[in-house]
Amino acid sequence: MKLLVTGGAGFIGSNFILYWIKNHPEDTIVNFDKLTYAGNLENLKSVEKNKNYSFIQGDICDPKAVDKAMENINAVVHFAAESHVDRSIINPSDFVETNVLGTQVLLDMAVKHKVEKFHHISTDEVFGSLKLEDTNLFNERTNYNPRSPYSASKAGSDHLVRAYNTTYGLPITISNSSNNFGPYQFPEKFIPLAITNILENKKIPVYGDGLYVRDWLYVEDHCRAIDTILQKGKNGETYCVGGLTEDINNLEVVKKILNILGKHENMIEYVKDRPGHDRRYSLDWSKIKNELGWKPMHDFDEWLEKTVDWYKNNQDWWKNVKNGEYKRYYKRQYGSV
Ligand code: NAD
Ligand code: DAU
Repeated sequence: MKLLVTGGAGFIGSNFILYWIKNHPEDTIVNFDKLTYAGNLENLKSVEKNKNYSFIQGDICDPKAVDKAMENINAVVHFAAESHVDRSIINPSDFVETNVLGTQVLLDMAVKHKVEKFHHISTDEVFGSLKLEDTNLFNERTNYNPRSPYSASKAGSDHLVRAYNTTYGLPITISNSSNNFGPYQFPEKFIPLAITNILENKKIPVYGDGLYVRDWLYVEDHCRAIDTILQKGKNGETYCVGGLTEDINNLEVVKKILNILGKHENMIEYVKDRPGHDRRYSLDWSKIKNELGWKPMHDFDEWLEKTVDWYKNNQDWWKNVKNGEYKRYYKRQYGSV
């Protein structure tokens, strides 16, 4: 099989490529990535010389480049996106362009090249926000209610993917996953931001009251879920992919990281809240478990500790990433924190 992976130089995309080459060495992978601030080929150093792997620097909004990359492709796995909620609040237009228009260009070319499978990576954020006091979870039947420019643009892309299935018969599947954590995550996201700030002896900015809840999924569990969907998923279906955590809030996450690193809670700094901050995400993954046999296997506490170790042992990786552009973004977002 020949796969086109978009956004393969980002956090989940690069973990997916490493996972796929290890588990399906007979397949060929083309990684198509624009290399925005979030794309980093260092993540893929260990496979760059593999004869079944190649890289194309390109923009998913560019029909000519996508047309060429799509030649002889059997399956598309579409990760490429602008992915950070806070940046979407500063500059929504990049999100609409890449996440909506870019997805539409890919879909057009997938139809033209008659690809056998188009798997779209989406997010639980399209479902909106749950209340802390609720006991309900998001599932595949939950109505869409995106509340940030990021989640609205991802919702738009999900609708387009389903529309191309209905209108043009393109074989598609979608996964809506919860918050991933693990190696190679860009340190603008909460867990790597907290770990690397502590390692630099800097404060950890916690938005609002810190009582926001996310459903945490170890990135390798996510890669295995995508593999399962590519092998066994049904055409046109959506699968929710979540982790093993139950209602852990941001403060508890930070306290766990501080504890692992032997640091004091006075490193926490409460900062201005994110506008429109979604209070709680929690995902029901029983459909993918019952229909396809996938379930998350990585315990949060154990793999958070391993993730902390990874950032401790790979300081060159994140110090290179926390460069000029990052510093400008950080100052704008957090001021002097
Ligand atoms: P990321 O920001 O780490 O990586 C995104 C990648 O896409 C980068 O390599 C970037 O260079 C590339 N890219 C951006 N714009 C592009 C364009 N126009 N053309 C080609 N490449 C482009 O993102 P991530 O956290 O790895 O997320 C990957 C996907 O998974 C996204 O679609 C995101 O919405 C989704 N998702 C992420 C999470 C999470 O917790 N990180 C959870 C659920 C879903
Ligand atoms: O739910 C899936 C989504 O998870 C993905 O679709 C997104 O691409 C991904 O970025 C992530 O979105 P979140 O907004 O949930 O992740 P983030 O790491 O930005 O924030 C996690 C929580 O931590 C959230 O409640 C906001 C809070 N936070 C975040 C940052 C960056 C802070 O308190 N302080 C911070 O500095």
